[in-house]
Amino acid sequence: MLTIAVRAARSAGDIILRSAENIDRIQVDQKSKNDFTTEVDRAAEQEIIKIIKAAFPEHAILAEESGAHAGNDFVWVIDPLDGTTNFIHGFPQFAVSIALKIKGRLEVGVIYDPLRDELFTASKGGGAMLNNRKIRVTKQNSLKGSLIGTGFPFKKQQHLDAYLQMFRTICVDAAGIRRAGSAALDLAYLAAGRFDGFWEIGLCEWDMAAGILLVQEAGGVVTDFSFNDDYLNTGNLIAGNPRMQQLLYQAIQPHVGDSLK
Ligand code: IPD
Ligand code: CA
Ligand code: CA
Repeated sequence: MLTIAVRAARSAGDIILRSAENIDRIQVDQKSKNDFTTEVDRAAEQEIIKIIKAAFPEHAILAEESGAHAGNDFVWVIDPLDGTTNFIHGFPQFAVSIALKIKGRLEVGVIYDPLRDELFTASKGGGAMLNNRKIRVTKQNSLKGSLIGTGFPFKKQQHLDAYLQMFRTICVDAAGIRRAGSAALDLAYLAAGRFDGFWEIGLCEWDMAAGILLVQEAGGVVTDFSFNDDYLNTGNLIAGNPRMQQLLYQAIQPHVGDSLK
């Protein structure tokens, strides 16, 4: 199943790369406030679904652009192009994200950055890899000197004040905070030791499913804002090595109101 996920991710990546050359001619549609999609998102998703369905016709699918496709309790969670706003602007940070859940448990995760040809893969119990080399989260043990990834709540702006308080608390201590624009790549970078921690409010399942497995398989810990594991439903995420995850939780928790629990 990992092999199929990799094949699908690479194939979608090829479509995205080819389209990136003609970025001015791509049609952009707005789904809701600050939420865009393009014909490239849809074509990449169709390609992924075609490859998965050919190999596993009975499996179910949850895909960002076409929604839920019924099937058995194997569910493929697909974000065909994570970082669409970056893609539209020619800002080189976007990826394909594909995860497989079996009976609700994450089993396979693939994130592919077509521009850098970086393939991040994970399977439950099998570790996390970048281009077939094992990756680990960092050993960082304090916010001082750390590099933290995040995403802004630009769609769910009712959380902006709480977010800015979290940002302030972390910014005071961390060496740097980055908002690169693809949650999937942020989590892959955390797994690969390029970030020491990550938090974001209001993600969708397809933004984070593959990345969460990558982080866990690289020795990291992921929780929601109540220090529980309901992140796929709440969309609120704190991740890092065990110590950094705890430190970020301590920084974030005082600013978590009822609507973020
Ligand atoms: C977005 C990216 C971004 C995150 C947003 C997501 P999209 O995904 O992951 O980093 O902050 O919440 O919606 O729309 O580009 O697939
Ligand atoms: Ca996404
Ligand atoms: Ca997307």
